[in-house]
Amino acid sequence: MRKLKRRNAPSNDEDDRLPLYDSSTATSSNGPSSRAKQRKRRSTGPCWPWARLVMVSGIVLTVYCGWIWWKAPDHKPPIPPILHRAFPYKRDWYLPRIRDDVKLEEWDGPQLIHVVHTRFMQEQPSLTSLGRARLGLFRVFCLPTMIEQTTNHFLWIIKTDPDLDAEIMQVLVDLVSPYPNFFLVASNVNFRINEDFPGAWRDGAQARDLALSRTYTGNQTLLEVAMALEAQLPILETRLDADDGLHVEFLEQMQYQATKAFRQSALKWMYWCTRRHMEWHWIDEVPSSFEHDSPLGQKIVEYGALQGVQHSNLCITAGYTVGFPVGVSEPDVPVYPHQDLVSMIRKLPSEKACGLKPSEKCLQFVEEHIFEAVRSRTHTSAGMLKVRLEQDGLVNTPWLSYAYWDLLCKSFEIQRMQVRWMNEYLTSHIIDIARDNLLGQCTLGHSCKDSAKEELAKVIEKYRNRTTSG
Ligand SMILES: *[C@@H]1O[C@H](CO)[C@@H](O)[C@H](O)[C@H]1NC(C)=O
Ligand SMILES: *[C@@H]1O[C@H](CO)[C@@H](O)[C@H](O)[C@H]1NC(C)=O
Repeated sequence: MRKLKRRNAPSNDEDDRLPLYDSSTATSSNGPSSRAKQRKRRSTGPCWPWARLVMVSGIVLTVYCGWIWWKAPDHKPPIPPILHRAFPYKRDWYLPRIRDDVKLEEWDGPQLIHVVHTRFMQEQPSLTSLGRARLGLFRVFCLPTMIEQTTNHFLWIIKTDPDLDAEIMQVLVDLVSPYPNFFLVASNVNFRINEDFPGAWRDGAQARDLALSRTYTGNQTLLEVAMALEAQLPILETRLDADDGLHVEFLEQMQYQATKAFRQSALKWMYWCTRRHMEWHWIDEVPSSFEHDSPLGQKIVEYGALQGVQHSNLCITAGYTVGFPVGVSEPDVPVYPHQDLVSMIRKLPSEKACGLKPSEKCLQFVEEHIFEAVRSRTHTSAGMLKVRLEQDGLVNTPWLSYAYWDLLCKSFEIQRMQVRWMNEYLTSHIIDIARDNLLGQCTLGHSCKDSAKEELAKVIEKYRNRTTSG
């Protein structure tokens, strides 16, 4: 290349420069050298302020972007929201705005705001095997029960890690986006999990977090109106884990009970929960309490096992709800971990209670059906609590087994064939899932128990043995 150029270029440097000098002398009486000097002076003189302006605005923009990033380390908006608003057609997500122009009349439907909170893969964005398995459980056990709720007057906030694997994120967006009241939000910030996480929908802590968080789905107006009306309407906040499901009438029943409760003017707050649920266990071999070739045992290996669970003094996480009447601010409502709620409410002196007497009335059970919730118990669980099947509680007559599967379909809209797929999926991916879950133990906000680690290590070893021997 260089050779070619040199051949085409004039052999003499003087020849190359000459025509330039000629043209300048033709238009000006000044000598060529003074003209060149003038041009040079102009370029460093009057142009300099522009360069400085560009430089200064560059610094300002960098500082501004840096400030935004610093303010929201969890959310990392790739471009400043101000630019984002200027190019709305480019976005596949939005930042909900905190509005102060919303009037109560803009809220239609039941006069309360009901928010359901679900967390998905927070602080564990790169554990993709675990993520895919949990996505499966979400799809099979959680999502259908929410789609089929008998009311759609609620907002479902699903918070996931902002750095979640792109493929998993895309599937989630596709699953959730048809429903205007389902909001997929990139945020690792939670509230009222225990006393260390104060803040709620009431008083705007949730709204302030949402305003900084990329939101991928849902009706933005609906969300902003609900955020803005946090003080004007009673609020219900319900928890649901991403691998659990609620009875399809649960939210409507909950709202009915809450509406009645909120009519009592003395009420300062109220808790609701449920104590009865159905458990689904991943099963990979015939449980020892069955004959190896019994039809029911074979069925369990194919579909997993269902079990009914009734607690007397323990609230489960699924459907755990707290209510804020109008006029009560968030710090006035005590935070109780779900497992201690029943005993703590019973011990509560009435002056610290919710305003009703006796203080037991501050907790109501939602128990209209045989089972109010379904929980999946697999090796994807962070706490690994009760993942092992307790064989004495296992359904061991065929007719009862059919009744349970029928309930799963009729009360929860969960499809038997999808559950079968899930059981197979877990069996064939268990080593990667357990390894990921082992890595995810003790990450921020997740449990950290030796028993969980032991159980995961045992499963990995068992399946390694199986693959090497088979
Ligand atoms: C979004 O929600 C608002 C307020 O509830 C409603 O007026 C509007 O029609 C909804 N938009 C869509 C596209 O559903
Ligand atoms: C796996 O195989 C080793 C060696 O044969 C054995 O000691 C161990 O108990 C096996 N583990 C499980 C969980 O079966």
